[in-house]
Amino acid sequence: MNHVPVAIIGAGPAGLTLSHLLHQHGVESIVFESRTRQQVEETVRAGILEQGTLNLMRDTGVGERMEREADIDEGIDISINGQPTRIPLTELTGHHVAIWPQHEYLKDFIAKRLEDGGTILFSTTVAEVDGHLGEKPTLTYTTEGGVPETISTDYVIAADGSSSPYRKIITEGTGIRARHEYPYAWFGILVEAPKTQKELIYATHPEGFALISTRSETIQRYYLQCDPDDTVDMWSDERIWEQLHLRADSDEIKVTEGRIFDKAVLRFRSAVTEPMQQGRLFLAGDAAHTVPPTGAKGLNLAVADVSVLAPGLVRALKRKDTGLLDAYSSLAVPRIWKAQHFSYWMSSMLHAVPGEDHFATQRRFAELRSVLESEAGQRYLAEQYVGKDLPKFEV
Ligand code: DHB
Repeated sequence: MNHVPVAIIGAGPAGLTLSHLLHQHGVESIVFESRTRQQVEETVRAGILEQGTLNLMRDTGVGERMEREADIDEGIDISINGQPTRIPLTELTGHHVAIWPQHEYLKDFIAKRLEDGGTILFSTTVAEVDGHLGEKPTLTYTTEGGVPETISTDYVIAADGSSSPYRKIITEGTGIRARHEYPYAWFGILVEAPKTQKELIYATHPEGFALISTRSETIQRYYLQCDPDDTVDMWSDERIWEQLHLRADSDEIKVTEGRIFDKAVLRFRSAVTEPMQQGRLFLAGDAAHTVPPTGAKGLNLAVADVSVLAPGLVRALKRKDTGLLDAYSSLAVPRIWKAQHFSYWMSSMLHAVPGEDHFATQRRFAELRSVLESEAGQRYLAEQYVGKDLPKFEV
């Protein structure tokens, strides 16, 4: 039977970043991905890299295209009822963020893994993980050609997203899964239009939230708060533009319009799995935790997870020292809860709950204004938005 030191299920941000970091320390891995390469590289997701994430790209040789092409932002606008306030992120924290959509991040890591001789098996479904409580787990998988194969491994990493079947192995035992549902969702569009402005606008209004983001000089990414049960056909172009202008326009800035070529409803959920390990099975990224999109923490949290997991695995495999690996959950989970809190807090200040009355609207506007009118408040928000440095461990 073939053997690989680390078997990674899922070619998303967690899986690919982990595989890359392991390679940097001479540890071999295989990434198993059920989708095609094209599907992975074309799925539309969020787009903000925290400073720590973009540093990791730069420092480990994956940042070249991002540095050349990504917008670097030093501030965001928060707009209440058409009145924007700029939060000067860099002035307050010394850090900036990059607008680099997740699928571009994935393209960079896939290209780098392949260039470095790494193995990513696309269109390959893992059918079973066995023996993770013992010394040598096995993985049974079916390749593109439909041939079932089995491989043995030292460690299995489930990085296969929010509907990971492997999470159950942990939560059906002693683990827990804490969840929160939100009474709203986002309607996301891609549009051929010039930028509304360089920096992002997070806008709130009695009718709800809108986010003005960007993809390039000619393609923009806009979001509107919608009902979780809404479907794409409920949002005509006319309704979209009417609501975007209502929620996000100010005296100086009008949302730019153009041909809408993608519409989708995005779910809003929080979930945290604890612990993120059982035996030789580890969860990373969305397989372990989901954050609502406000603040775009999902990818960054996945990268933070594997910043602990990678050195932990390297120490375990190269030095037979499992100390860091055993501490993975306890090191990763506090950061996950802080990101949950930030995404929840931003969401609740910016979104109207269904049937919200005057009291509730004015209270949330007052909370936001209290933050925006205070230097300490702005700094707190800015620190959370740009993110803390990634965990660093010697190997
Ligand atoms: C984007 C998504 C977010 O959730 C966010 O907070 C900022 C930007 C985006 O897709 O561009």
